[in-house]
Amino acid sequence: MATASVATDVQLSELADDPYPVFRRLRDEDPVAWVPAAGRYLVTRHEDVLAVERDQRVFSSVEQDSLMNRAIGRTLLRQDGAAHKRLRAAAEGPVRPRAVKNEWLPAFQRNADALIDGFFERGSVDLFAEFAGPLAGANLGTILGLRSATPADIQRWSQAFIDGCGNYGDDPEVWTRCAAAVAEVDAAVDEALPFVRENPDSSVLSSMLHAEDPLTPEEIRTNVRIFIGGGVNEPRDAIGVATYALLTHPDQLADVVAGQIAWRTVFEEAVRWVSPIGMYPREVTERTTLDGRTLEAGDRIGVVISSANRDERVFERPDEFDTRRGSGAHLAFGGGPHFCLGTWVARVSIAEVALPTLFRRLPELTLPEPGAVRMAGWVFRGPLALDASWRT
Ligand code: HEM
Repeated sequence: MATASVATDVQLSELADDPYPVFRRLRDEDPVAWVPAAGRYLVTRHEDVLAVERDQRVFSSVEQDSLMNRAIGRTLLRQDGAAHKRLRAAAEGPVRPRAVKNEWLPAFQRNADALIDGFFERGSVDLFAEFAGPLAGANLGTILGLRSATPADIQRWSQAFIDGCGNYGDDPEVWTRCAAAVAEVDAAVDEALPFVRENPDSSVLSSMLHAEDPLTPEEIRTNVRIFIGGGVNEPRDAIGVATYALLTHPDQLADVVAGQIAWRTVFEEAVRWVSPIGMYPREVTERTTLDGRTLEAGDRIGVVISSANRDERVFERPDEFDTRRGSGAHLAFGGGPHFCLGTWVARVSIAEVALPTLFRRLPELTLPEPGAVRMAGWVFRGPLALDASWRT
C-alpha cells in the first residue's frame, strides 16, 4: 500500500449526511486522498476521474474480495477488456437511443400515467415512494422481459442487491435477503427463457439470448442482476432530485414550463448537482502515479463522480442547481468502458416522460415543507421522501 496522506479524519457518517464540503476540501488539498474510513484512495477532481476512466488496464474494474461479486455474482460491471465487451454487446441493442424511443417510450408513458391516475384524487403524496420508485421499477420491468415479475418485485430485488453490494458491516440478515432475491430473479429468468427462446422480442433478455455471441443461461441470470441492481435506484433518485430542484427554484421551473429550458437540460443538471451514484470502485494493477500520488498494485480507488461533478475547475458555482449554466461535461453516468448502459433509458423515461408528465398532470404542484426534504448517502445519494401536494 502506498504512503498514507491526510484526510484521515473523514467519517463515513459525515459523507452520508453531506459529502460536498468534504469533497471540496479533498479536491483543494489532497485530490487523491487516502481515506481510512472508506479503505480507499478517493479521487475527487474531474480531470483525475477522467484519467482513471481512460486507463482500464491500470485502473481495473475487477476488484479482489468485491462485495458486489459476493452479493450478485461476477457481472459485466466487474470485468475488463474483451470479456466485458462481449457481455455488454449482448445486452446493448434494446437500450440504444433509437430502440428506447421507438420501443419503450409509449410504455414508459403508460406506466407514468397509471401511477398518477392511482393517486391524483388524493391531492398529496410522497412522490418519492409512490411515483419515482414504482415508476423506475415498472419501466425496468418493461424492458427486461421478465414476464412473471411485478414492478414491486423488481423494486424489492433491487433494494436487496444494493444493500448486499454495500454490506460493509457484514450483516447476516442483509446477506440472507440478498440471496433470496438472487434466487427469485434466477427463477424469473428461468421461467421466461423458454418463451423468449421460441418468441424473440425486443427485451434485454431476448437480446442476451439471441445475440450474435449469445450468453449462456448462467451468464444471463448473473447479468440480469446488474440491470436490476443498477436500473431502479438511480432513476428513482434522479426523478426525486430533479422534482425537488424545480420546486425549490420556481424561476427555473417557470422557464421550463414556458419552453425556454428543455426537460433534458433539467435532467442533466439534476444528475450533475446530486449524482445518484456518487462513488464507484477501481483497483490498481501496477505501480502508477495519479495527480502526484504514487499508487501500488492492489491499492483500491474510489472514483468520486459526485465530487468531479462539483469541481470548480470545470463548473462555475458548482453547488448551485442552475439549468442555465450551459456546460454539460458531467460524469454522472461514468466516463469509460463501463459508461452506464441505461443512460438512454434514464434520459427518455425521465426527461421525456416522468418530469413533463408530473408537472403537466399535477396542477400547482408544490412542496408544503421544502425544508423537511432530506438527502442522504455518498455512494448512492438521493432524497429519502418528497411529500408534495397539488390542486385536484
Ligand atoms: C439516472 C440514472 C442512472 C445513473 C446516474 C446511472 C449511473 C451509472 C454509472 C455511474 C455507471 C458506471 C459504474 C461503474 O463504472 O462502476 C453505470 C453502469 C451501469 N448502469 Fe447505470 N445509471 C442510471 C440508470 C440506469 C438504468 C435505468 C439502467 C438499466 C436499464 C442502468 C444499467 C447500468 C448497467 C447495466 C451498468 C453497467 C455497464 C457496464 O459495466 O458496462 N443504469 N450506471
